Amino acid sequence: MASFTKSDKRTHYCGTLTKADIGERVTVLGWCQKQRDLGSLIFIDLRDRTGMVQLAFDSDTDKQIFDDAFTVRAEYVLSASGIVRSRGEGAVNPNMATGEIEIAVDAFKILATAQTPPFAIVENSDVKPELRLTHRYLDLRRPDLQGNIIARSKIVKIARDYYDDNGFIDIETPNLIKPTPEGARDYLVPSRVHPGKFYALPQSPQLYKQLLMYAGFDRYFQIARCYRDEDLRADRQPEFTQIDLEMSFSDEDDIIAMNEGFIKRLFDEFMGLPLETPFPRMTYAEAMDRYGSDKPDTRFEMELCDVSDVVADCGFGVFSGAVKNGGSVRCITVKGGASMSRKEIDALVDFVKTYGAKGLAWYKNAAGTVSSSFAKFLTEEETAALVSKMGAGEGDLILIVADKNTVVFDALGALRVHVAKKLGMIDKSKFNFLWVTEFPLLEYSEEDDRYYAKHHPFTMPFEEDIPLLDTDPGAVRARAYDIVLNGTELGGGSIRIHTTEMQNKMFASLGIGEAEAEEKFGFLLEAFKYGVPPHGGLAFGLDRLVTLLLGLEDIRDVIAFPKVQNASELLSKCPGLPDPKTLEELRISVNIDEE
Ligand code: AMO
Ligand code: AMP
Repeated sequence: MASFTKSDKRTHYCGTLTKADIGERVTVLGWCQKQRDLGSLIFIDLRDRTGMVQLAFDSDTDKQIFDDAFTVRAEYVLSASGIVRSRGEGAVNPNMATGEIEIAVDAFKILATAQTPPFAIVENSDVKPELRLTHRYLDLRRPDLQGNIIARSKIVKIARDYYDDNGFIDIETPNLIKPTPEGARDYLVPSRVHPGKFYALPQSPQLYKQLLMYAGFDRYFQIARCYRDEDLRADRQPEFTQIDLEMSFSDEDDIIAMNEGFIKRLFDEFMGLPLETPFPRMTYAEAMDRYGSDKPDTRFEMELCDVSDVVADCGFGVFSGAVKNGGSVRCITVKGGASMSRKEIDALVDFVKTYGAKGLAWYKNAAGTVSSSFAKFLTEEETAALVSKMGAGEGDLILIVADKNTVVFDALGALRVHVAKKLGMIDKSKFNFLWVTEFPLLEYSEEDDRYYAKHHPFTMPFEEDIPLLDTDPGAVRARAYDIVLNGTELGGGSIRIHTTEMQNKMFASLGIGEAEAEEKFGFLLEAFKYGVPPHGGLAFGLDRLVTLLLGLEDIRDVIAFPKVQNASELLSKCPGLPDPKTLEELRISVNIDEE
């Protein structure tokens, strides 16, 4: 193997060479995509992060170089110099950006050899995720994945530029912090110096960015790494990145406008798509009522309809009972859905059951032939009233859930999206942004018999709702907002509490007593004594933003080294066992049964 010397230094990236370079002597570096040996001719496709170029070796090539080229296999690392020339007539490759030219090699080095990789380094290869992730450095050589990571870098650059242009100061906040509950479970880091005590990794920079407002920085911004020990999904990672910001002396409208400005610039510069602002806004209550979701996908209709009044007194206990118990009966109408088979509908029944629904009633009108799962329970008049309220006609399918409202919304909200995907009703070229506002401040947990903060405990309630904290806490609206893109929660934020009085009231509503508040948030309450400006902010999920902009489904495709479902990283095989000596120093003994 040859050593890398000054003469091997790159003059051009492979994918950037064009006809304009013909006659030029160039040096390129990269990996062998493919070597083709045609006897008296050898071609090598050389790949770097910009693309590929063809290296040509023929009877004019130095014998030693020709012999070296003969030994090259896929993924060898090469340096090649030579004159760029036009490809011969008929040899032009229209599928390759550099397909009109090649390099007639006159200097050549094999810088590293390579074993045959466990999978081909090609775009969109259909390889098991486990194999890709255990060899992530090879996976990342694939042009599509490499493109995603490069796109992410461009998006971050635009974010930095935008917020910097608008006077935001980039400030790093600590990664070893005090454990404080913010919804998800904390990742803990044991302290050696304080045996038995732990740091938490931040779930977000929330408290620190608020403290920066107290300190007078006025506008803060950070590309912040966050850690949450929660169950993974396609749009969730245990460590992820936020575009995080906070603004003093601002209300919802200021924060919303500022961040719409960022999205608009991102679409201009990165997507080349003009976006219309302001984005639509919808209250949480309206979003639930119409879409059964606080992150509605508005690219298609199929809205929920409440038919509780129609069936409140019907003879079908499932329907009337739900209404009597304070729940509701709601439906969606699937236009053209009557073509679904019994088997397909049964699969929908199973689908809603995963959302806690006890069943899914249906009615369909296939070319005049009417059938329904509740024919024997409802009178003809009752059925007719229901169908007429839904505006369902020939060819349509009505899907109905009766239960308490949380289950009805969850089940129908998810079913709506599931059916739209299944029937190809979603226009994938659309980018529908939506602000969801006026979230409930508190959320009741039946399991724990107490309220939790829906966003976080530092969110300001609506002034006029504050008295309800004592009488009907569940009805209090928060000055919190989410930005939703095509049915995904892209970001969220709120106006913060900035007085001791209000913060104490909030802690009391959450069942956090004075002593506990002092223990956990004493520093925050103390700070309130020294002049805290009104402020608010927002954080975008960067990984989700990149995923959606690139039209991808899986957040792992925009993260260089992602974790898998069980929160391990397959390449380095973390988490791992610490050295017993380290544990001893930390005074930690591990107490688990052998597998
Ligand atoms: P929130 O918890 O809503 O708000 O988080 C903001 C955004 O971060 C993204 N996100 C995630 N992305 C990937 N994997 C995860 N596990 C994950 N969890 C959240 C989402 C989400 O909208 N401190 C507040 C913000 C504020 O009030 O200013 C916060 O963290 O896109
Ligand atoms: P059953 O009386 O259980 O045979 O149910 C009759 C029909 O009502 C079936 O189509 C069930 O799937 C449906 N069903 C049962 N429970 C519910 C519910 N909570 N909401 C809507 N439909 C239901």
